[in-house]
Amino acid sequence: MPSFMEPFRIKAVEPIPFPTADERREALAAAGYNLFRVPARRITIDLLTDSGTAAMSAAQWSALLSGDESYAGARSFERFEGVVRDLTGFSEVLPVHQGRAAERILLGNVLRLGDISVSNTHFDSTRASVEAAGAEAVDLPVPAYEGVANPFGGDLDLDALAELLTGRSGGRIRCVVLTVTNNANGGQPVSLLNIAGARKLCDEHGIPLFLDASRFAENAYLITEREAGYADSAPREIAQTMFSLADGCWASLKKDGMANIGGLIALRDKELAAHCAEQVIAVEGFPTYGGLAGRDLDALAQGLLEVTDPDYLRYRAETARWFGEQLRLAGLPVLQPTGCHAVYVDAGLLLDHIPPQQLPATAFANELYLAGAVRVCELGTLVFGRRSPDGGPDIPAPRELVRFALPRRVYTASHLEYVVDTAEEVRSKAAELHGYRIVTQGGALRQFTAGLQPV
Ligand SMILES: Cc1ncc(COP(=O)(O)O)c(C=O)c1O
Repeated sequence: MPSFMEPFRIKAVEPIPFPTADERREALAAAGYNLFRVPARRITIDLLTDSGTAAMSAAQWSALLSGDESYAGARSFERFEGVVRDLTGFSEVLPVHQGRAAERILLGNVLRLGDISVSNTHFDSTRASVEAAGAEAVDLPVPAYEGVANPFGGDLDLDALAELLTGRSGGRIRCVVLTVTNNANGGQPVSLLNIAGARKLCDEHGIPLFLDASRFAENAYLITEREAGYADSAPREIAQTMFSLADGCWASLKKDGMANIGGLIALRDKELAAHCAEQVIAVEGFPTYGGLAGRDLDALAQGLLEVTDPDYLRYRAETARWFGEQLRLAGLPVLQPTGCHAVYVDAGLLLDHIPPQQLPATAFANELYLAGAVRVCELGTLVFGRRSPDGGPDIPAPRELVRFALPRRVYTASHLEYVVDTAEEVRSKAAELHGYRIVTQGGALRQFTAGLQPV
């Protein structure tokens, strides 16, 4: 039995499919052994992502009806703007349709050819926006030590940043970005101490500090659990302190916005915001709706109020912790400590007979689908490996991780128990599993479209 209880009851339900073993085999083969290409009607439990997959509350569904669909200056925008200003303290608020639009517009205005953006870890779409501006994305995560669990494994390496700032390329650094929580680094939080340290270095060198605040509430909650002196603080207060240390932020609101679509840019600098607004007009829409319907803005305004509820956040963190522990007890190598939005399993340790070029993380994820129609996300050589410049075997990813993402308020503990049982079944036949080879692939982000074949 889990030690937590879902702090909500269920008002609307959606049936989940139970494809047979034959249907699963056929669906996977028809998808070129790539889970992104398997139709959702063939999935029983979908832990592919926590992005855009949240269940909205009754208050959010009712907020949809008060959506004002006026083209300009809608009441829905005023509500959204008010909530974002109160949360972040940033006066300039621009909605956009999702996170990558915010990144593309803001970073496109901040960065020029040859500049450097430094981050604890740029998320892949963030890195793509930095590179689209002709700049270089430099990741400086705190070093990880084998077997040592760092409570703030999402932190930026401040010593390395200081060294870079005073070194030969220091003059090229145009911004520092803290991704909270650090999605590409196990969903681990960034401490307030680390944000304050980055602020100090940015002030000393006259550089802006931005937050990629897609999971700001989860980061704030983990600070109350893990950082000395904040156990009695409200997650909302912590979030406000995090924002107060930055010059601006962007966010994919498909995560802690608790809705299914949306993003934002929020800034102190009016001139920068005016430049961004011009681009929002060009590619998203008038700056008071930014590619969203008025009703989306209302659902997001309500979601941004709900997400910092301490009961919700405690349940969220405890779910991940309990789920991670059950997987560990089932014999799976689980990354510790767990964060909030996902649990990560190191499939490379489990399937050490499969070489990285034969995609052990994909092998594990595909077998989980075949065993129980559970969909997870491979974060191994298919996603992070690189093609060898001389046409030889792929350069492998550092680790063969599989991410079990947790959609917000969607699955109960018994759904997750089913996933644990399925994972245990896969673990029990680990030695029999085979790898995959890539037969078709695109350029960047090949994981979404690649076609594979069993080896
Ligand atoms: C940390 C982070 N930043 C940015 C994005 C991009 O957001 P979106 O998917 O809404 O474009 C994501 C998406 O997963 C993310 O996790």
